Amino acid sequence: MATAHETAGAGWSPSPRDLRQQAAEIVAELTLEEKASLCSGADFWHTKGIERLGLEPYMLTDGPHGLRKQASDTDHLGLNNSIPATCFPSGAGLAASWNRDLLGDIGRALGREAAAESVGILLGPAINIKRHPLGGRNFEYFSEDPFLTGELAVSYIDGVQSQGVGTSVKHFAANNQETNRLLVDVIVEERTLREIYLPGFHAAVTRAQPWSVMSAYNRINGPYASDNAWLLTDLLREEWGHEGIVVTDWGAEDDRVTGLGAGTSLEMPGNGGLGDQEIVEAVRSGTLATEVLDREVTRLVSVHLAAAASRAIPRTVDHSAHHALAQRAAVEASVLLKNEGVLPLAPDSRIAVLGAFAEQPRYQGGGSSRINPSRLDSLLDGLAQCGMRDITYAPGYGLNDPEPDETLLAQAREAAAAADVVVVMVGLTSAEESEGYDRPHMRLSDSHNALVEAARSVSDRVVVVLSNGAPVEMPWVASVPAVLEAYLGGQASGSALAAILTGAQEPGGRLAETFPVRLEDSPAYLNFPGTDEKVEYREGIFVGYRHYDTVRVGPLFPFGHGLGYTSFEITGTSIDRTDIDETESVQVTVEVVNVGHRRGSHVVQLYAHQVGAQPRRPEQELVGFDKVTLGPGECTTLRFELDRSAFCYWGTRAHAWVVDDADFEIRIGASSRDIAAVERVRVRGSSDAPLLRGHNTALGNILDHPVLGGWARDLREAFIGAQGTYDPESPEFRLVEAFSRELPLRALARIGGLISVDQLERACRVLETTASEEDMRWFGA
Ligand code: BGC
Repeated sequence: MATAHETAGAGWSPSPRDLRQQAAEIVAELTLEEKASLCSGADFWHTKGIERLGLEPYMLTDGPHGLRKQASDTDHLGLNNSIPATCFPSGAGLAASWNRDLLGDIGRALGREAAAESVGILLGPAINIKRHPLGGRNFEYFSEDPFLTGELAVSYIDGVQSQGVGTSVKHFAANNQETNRLLVDVIVEERTLREIYLPGFHAAVTRAQPWSVMSAYNRINGPYASDNAWLLTDLLREEWGHEGIVVTDWGAEDDRVTGLGAGTSLEMPGNGGLGDQEIVEAVRSGTLATEVLDREVTRLVSVHLAAAASRAIPRTVDHSAHHALAQRAAVEASVLLKNEGVLPLAPDSRIAVLGAFAEQPRYQGGGSSRINPSRLDSLLDGLAQCGMRDITYAPGYGLNDPEPDETLLAQAREAAAAADVVVVMVGLTSAEESEGYDRPHMRLSDSHNALVEAARSVSDRVVVVLSNGAPVEMPWVASVPAVLEAYLGGQASGSALAAILTGAQEPGGRLAETFPVRLEDSPAYLNFPGTDEKVEYREGIFVGYRHYDTVRVGPLFPFGHGLGYTSFEITGTSIDRTDIDETESVQVTVEVVNVGHRRGSHVVQLYAHQVGAQPRRPEQELVGFDKVTLGPGECTTLRFELDRSAFCYWGTRAHAWVVDDADFEIRIGASSRDIAAVERVRVRGSSDAPLLRGHNTALGNILDHPVLGGWARDLREAFIGAQGTYDPESPEFRLVEAFSRELPLRALARIGGLISVDQLERACRVLETTASEEDMRWFGA
């Protein structure tokens, strides 16, 4: 019989899901010790195999924005080098592209590089939400917004896995800080998890079926993520249907047997046999059911088989094509924050380039994601290649020196004074931003700010180019005409920036996070990074622009913001229905036209605002986006289908997603603060049911109750009447009326004895659905 591989043709390799049956047959042959041995790594980057059955080990390695395969000395902190690979922009920059297709292309390139090196699973994408601007790994993570995060994660995963290489979407979940990262207990409400910290993972798992999910280092409401049965079994497996494995972050497992029972398949790296032995003993003593072990091992073996099938297909890598893709990505990752007529540079300008980053680019972050790039472009080389001849360069600061150096500044000032335009490359140094620790503040170092000041003091045509992975304060922003946020743009960032500055390319990025004016404005300011190894997410769902837009605090640059070299207008919008049931969807149509003089791209963003819901819901939430590229004068029509997921929120009473019966505005614009058009739709939802809790139920909450409604309305009238006769417009009447709604049933039995204890008990039985037929008759039902 032909194998699935043979029938589907060359290049295709099966996913773990396709191999589940075969895996189950292998598991039936395994001894208890062999099964336990598969539940942990053999070494830093490899699983174990079972030689007698031909089950080969495979390699898992970082990730996420390039392949970090260590051939000799191993570590997970980015200390030792790895084989050369394409370094794409890190997550913050990739997300700023708002480009699903680009993420797919990069995923395919990463998958190909990994496959060519026989890697089974690439450890990415890293999709935790940016809760606070100082989070040490913000450079690696996508966004403060869960919808944008999920959309990009799906494209990335589909891309990598199309090459027969698995992904490990990480870090599940609520891994939003580095301080105490292996210990911290994240105290967070379920609604906040459901609306902010989980949707990216939900999208990834339900739409892209990652081969694996990596459990985070931290605890969540008590248990460690790797030992958290609610997270890994109830939610991930049972509710979302994750069929792949769960891999611990490196060293994250606390209690192997608890972890396995909770749904952690693989402990990485190896555990020196300790965890394996614990598993064997737990099965022998009956504390761990064989079925639980078999379930995880079957999943594990499926991945072994899929990785082996993929390894059998020879692959080559076109490194120059990948470098070109890295350059396209860096262009799309760059966000032009401000431009008052300086960019693009005129071809014959005399340019002063200041800042050591122009020669030695800061293009990636530190830690487990550190790539050994296959090539590295600098801005200076890039400008020369773009034909810019009249360039003077001055380093302006020592690469790792936070203190201003007067000699270097004087040279920079001199170069700037003699130029038509000054390009200043500043940002965060590798030491200021890395995995492993959070940033202590949001400022650039003094040496970098001093360089901008030096340029500004002699020139009014200063372009600041920032290389950093997360927001920084910009004390000079009002006095420079242009600011370009280049993020950590990967190995081709230098040539990409040259192309942008000279106008050969247009900056394509839009912020996937808010840049606050001051750190103190940020929503988690008072609760980051917590104390006593505990952090409380007290800002709840109000993360990023959800906070700034709701409390109306102006950001330095808003979520979604970014300029190009041409301008776009929204010339028309429409909605196909203005009244829907929550089970239906609406289609929003947007016409957009390039009204400028050159080709360029635009990101159309849709935000949903529930009328009259504040502050229970954020002012608005991103529910759709699309990036278009148009020539001058060209227009296009975009269509967005919005279903219930655009309108719902997590109902804490219903313990489910609910939609209010409400009017919604669909705001269409170019950032959360730049709305060009608004459409309106009424959604007939069912809301989150009011809290009915026995004798503490408020009278106002049962006025429409199917059984108790009539009785409750009579009681309310009786209560109001007993307080005297008032004009319905009078303050006294309004007070009595309001009070009557709030009254708990128990108070009706006590204040004025409006009901008897017997009636109270009958009503409670109805609410608790334990009422007898006689109770029901008593209420006329
Ligand atoms: C990081 C992960 C990484 C792993 C392996 C850990 O320290 O948190 O993101 O995949 O190491 O390098």
